[in-house]
Amino acid sequence: MQEKKSIHGSWASRWVFILAATGSAVGLGNIWKFPYITGENGGGAFVLVYLLCIALVGIPIMIAEVFVGRRARQSPINALVDLAEESGKSTKWSLIGVMGLLAGVLIFSFYSVVAGWVLQYIVSTANGSLNGVTSEQAGEIFSGLLADPGTLLLWHTIFTIMVVGVVIGGVNAGLERATRIMMPALFVLLFVMLGYGMSTDSFGAGWSFMFDFDFSKLSWDAVLVAVGHSFFTLSLGMGTIMAYGSYMPKRASIGSTVLAIGFLDTLVALVAGLVIFPIIFANGMDPAAGPGLMFISLPVAFGQMAGGQFFGTLFFVLIGVAAWTSAISLLEPTVAYLVERVGMKRSTATIALGVVVWAIGILCLGSFNFMSDVTLFGKNVFDFLDYITANIMLPLGGIFIALFAGWAVKKKHASDEINLKSEGLFNLWLFVVKFIAPVAVGVVFILNL
Ligand code: TRP
Repeated sequence: MQEKKSIHGSWASRWVFILAATGSAVGLGNIWKFPYITGENGGGAFVLVYLLCIALVGIPIMIAEVFVGRRARQSPINALVDLAEESGKSTKWSLIGVMGLLAGVLIFSFYSVVAGWVLQYIVSTANGSLNGVTSEQAGEIFSGLLADPGTLLLWHTIFTIMVVGVVIGGVNAGLERATRIMMPALFVLLFVMLGYGMSTDSFGAGWSFMFDFDFSKLSWDAVLVAVGHSFFTLSLGMGTIMAYGSYMPKRASIGSTVLAIGFLDTLVALVAGLVIFPIIFANGMDPAAGPGLMFISLPVAFGQMAGGQFFGTLFFVLIGVAAWTSAISLLEPTVAYLVERVGMKRSTATIALGVVVWAIGILCLGSFNFMSDVTLFGKNVFDFLDYITANIMLPLGGIFIALFAGWAVKKKHASDEINLKSEGLFNLWLFVVKFIAPVAVGVVFILNL
C-alpha cells in the first residue's frame, strides 16, 4: 500500500519535525509566561508541579497527538474523524478538534499583543532609549507602553502580518525555513545570558526561588495554572502538534522525538527563569509583578552590562522569533482545515483567519487602556482569554485527546503507529493516557470548582 501523505506537504526529515515542533513549543510561554507565573505562584513548589505535569501528562499526550496526526495525515478535525471511523467509533470525537481551533484563535489574539511588546522592545533597546534604566524607570516605560493603544495596535498589526506571511508560504517554504536558523540562535543566546546571570551575586537567590520547594505557598489554583501551563508550553490540547504530526515522515520514531521536544522546551523555560530571577532579586524587584516581569527586568540587566545594547537587542529579536514560530503554529491547524474542508486557497484562508484574530486582538490590547473597565468574570479581556484557553480549554482538549487515543482508537493501530521500543513501554503509555492523565487533570479541575 502506498504511504498516506498530507496534501499540505511534509517535513524534509525527522530533524525538521523536531525543529518545527520545538519552534512551536518554545515561545512566549517559556520566556515571558513561565517566569511570571512562577513568580506569582511562589516559586519552587510551582516549578516542581509544572515539571511533574510535563513528564506525566504532557509527554504522553504529545505522543498521542503526533500519532493521531501522522496516522491520518490530515488536519485535526478530519484526523479525529478518520481514526474514529477506522476504529468503528463515533465521529463526534472530532468536536475536540473544533474546540481546538477556537482555542488557537483565542490564544493567538492575546499572544500577538505580547509579541507586539517584544517588537517594541527590540526598537527601544536598539535605539538606546533603555540604556542604563533603573528598575523604577523600566516599570514606568512598560506602563507607558500599555497605556498607549496606538503603539500597541501598530505592533500587533505588524506581528499578525508577519505570521500570516509565513503561513501563506506553507509547510516547506514558510514554516521550515523560518525555524531552521532561528531556533538554534535563540538557544545560544539564552545560554550567554545564563552565563551573565551566573556571574552576578543574585544567582543563588534566583536559583533558590525556583528550586526550593515550599508547599505551603501552593494553592489548588496554582496547581491548575501549572497544569494549564504544561499544555500551553508544549502546544498541546488544541491540535497544533497533531497538525505538525501529520507532516511528519513515517519512519521517524515518535517516542524519542517527543522526548527531545519536551526536553528542549523545559530547558528553555528553566533557563529563562534562571536569567530573569537573579535580575529581579539583584534589583529588589517583585517576582510577582505579573505579565510585565520580563519587560521590566531584562532592560535593567542589559542597561548595566557591557555590550548590553547589542545583546539586549539581539535577545529581544530572538524572543520575537520564538514568538513568531509559535504563533505560526496557532494558525496552521485552522488554515489546513479550511483548505481541506471548505476548499479555500491557502492564501485566502490564512488572510481571512488573520483578520479575525487581528480584530479579537484589538479587544485584548484595549484591556490595558481604553477597555480596562470591561471585565468578564472579574478579569479584563486579555486575562480572561489567557485564563480560559490555558487553564480550561487546553487541559480539557488534552484530556479528550488522551481518552480518544487510549479508549477509542484500536490498540493495534496505536501500537503500530507509535512503534515504541518495547511492548512494556507502550503499555505504560497506554495506561497513562487511559487513566493517569485524565484522572489527574480531572481531579485538579474539580478541586478548583
Ligand atoms: N507553546 C507556545 C509557547 O509556549 C504557544 C503555542 C503555540 C501554543 N502553539 C500552541 C499553546 C498551541 C497552546 C496550543 O509560547
